[in-house]
Amino acid sequence: MGDVLTLKDVTVSRSGRTILNAVNWDVNEGERWVLLGPNGAGKTTTIQLASGRMFPSSGEVTIIGERMGHVDVNELRPLVGVASSALDQKIPGDERVLDVVRTAAYGMLARWREVYDDEDTARAMELLRELGVSDLAERQFRTVSSGESKRIGIARALMPNPEILILDEPTSGLDLGGRESLLATLTDLAQAPYAPVMILVTHHVEEIPSGFTHGLLLRDGTVYAAGPIDEVMTSENLSEVFGIPLTVEKVRGRFTARAF
Ligand SMILES: Nc1ncnc2c1ncn2[C@@H]1O[C@H](COP(=O)(O)OP(=O)(O)OP(=O)(O)O)[C@@H](O)[C@H]1O
Ligand SMILES: [Mg+2]
Repeated sequence: MGDVLTLKDVTVSRSGRTILNAVNWDVNEGERWVLLGPNGAGKTTTIQLASGRMFPSSGEVTIIGERMGHVDVNELRPLVGVASSALDQKIPGDERVLDVVRTAAYGMLARWREVYDDEDTARAMELLRELGVSDLAERQFRTVSSGESKRIGIARALMPNPEILILDEPTSGLDLGGRESLLATLTDLAQAPYAPVMILVTHHVEEIPSGFTHGLLLRDGTVYAAGPIDEVMTSENLSEVFGIPLTVEKVRGRFTARAF
């Protein structure tokens, strides 16, 4: 059993369809996981379970030793920070960037208190600095670029000091420079002292930051492979999961995949 997160025989059914089937997954302290699999494989569903945002139809989900269904989800959710474009889209455009991050201390999407603790403000500014966007603190959220909004979303997810940080496609839609720069930030973040356990969903092995330790390959709602990243992200496994012959290579900590 994972000491941070465990999915045990988890099944999720929706509209009469089984979208996750008998999924087992253990995540331990110090690990950084990549979830990879074709469209519709069940990645987003898996992270919704892992973040306490969804209940399984059967099986058990345990987050930091607390079993879903046995504790108040409002206590569980601050333990898991999530950054995704779906969440970014819920942020009001006229919200100040500093408030986008600060409000996350209270699990709210919009500002509702006029007064914040100085401590919250200092932490939000420090996170914006770590993510390289502190100069945007006073800007309205709607005016920032997509690369900047990804960084702000990650700062926001880190604000409640979560035990687990989940990133759903953090580099999708970024230009090459923006992608490489965010990947470098994520690598630094992963190596920071007291870094939370990280779980990253991506469609491309090129978008795996170096320093990630484990991989989970999903196909048709089931786990095809899970374990140490170099054992999972192989030509053989990826060819099988994506249904085309792929050559996977790793150069200086980074993966590439191509169809010949
Ligand atoms: N409420 C629902 N009712 C019916 N089917 C659903 C529901 N939610 C998700 N699904 C289906 O479950 C499957 C898995 O969805 P999920 O979003 O987890 O996939 P994904 O791996 O994140 O895909 P993508 O790479 O496209 O983001 C998909 O086929 C999706 O259509
Ligand atoms: Mg998805």
